[in-house]
Amino acid sequence: MAERRRLIAGNWKMNGLRAEGIALAGGLAAKALANKPTCDVVVCPPATLLAKIDRAFDAGVIKLGGQDCHADEKGAHTGDISAEMLRDTGCSYVIVGHSERRADHAEGDAQVRAKAAAVLRAGMTAIVCVGETRAERDAGNALSVVEGQVVGSLPPGAQGDNTVIAYEPVWAIGSGSTPTLDEIAAVHRHIRAVLDGALKAAATEIRIIYGGSVNAANAGDILDVDAVDGALVGGASLKIEDFWSIIAAADAR
Ligand code: PGA
Repeated sequence: MAERRRLIAGNWKMNGLRAEGIALAGGLAAKALANKPTCDVVVCPPATLLAKIDRAFDAGVIKLGGQDCHADEKGAHTGDISAEMLRDTGCSYVIVGHSERRADHAEGDAQVRAKAAAVLRAGMTAIVCVGETRAERDAGNALSVVEGQVVGSLPPGAQGDNTVIAYEPVWAIGSGSTPTLDEIAAVHRHIRAVLDGALKAAATEIRIIYGGSVNAANAGDILDVDAVDGALVGGASLKIEDFWSIIAAADAR
């Protein structure tokens, strides 16, 4: 079986003014220095904070990520940020296709794939998010919805060192409820099979991480599911101790 290093990614979403961001990043950097995590750790702050906090992560243990990017390298796209700009600001990962972008900005799979391709073009790793709504799960369609999103959103050339899939059921995000461990395992195994079918050997090292109400209390159990290669963490990534407990749980496995 392929060895995939666990990945814990924090998604701060639209949270944090300068002072809070600097304090949070400084606290995480101090934890990283003291504890030297062996899993991969990524922090995705709002774009406004990237340049302010990249120094805190200079030691290289914690990587910086963007939360979204435009598909083009540059041009007349007011308010947008290109993958190259994120790279230039110190990022090595970019989240694309988060369900909040799919819902709030009507992003479909083709656009998500174009954004993921831009992330690869800029030499970074795309964290491609997929996940079903509550209604889709209740209708028994979780696996088919997720499969469609994976197939439709994967960038050309996807492989382990440039692409991560984040399975995030929309109804679990920020809600405090998560699927059962068996349900998480079933979706992750299905995604793995879809990747194997589409990408053959290139799929083996692609990590599939879980997101949606991961916290310090449930992270260990979720990370124990053997098809789970890490976590994408929203709310709990805004608290130093909570986020660090999740990293420690990944390291303990
Ligand atoms: P949550 O968010 O951990 O607050 O549920 C996860 C995400 O949206 O990435």
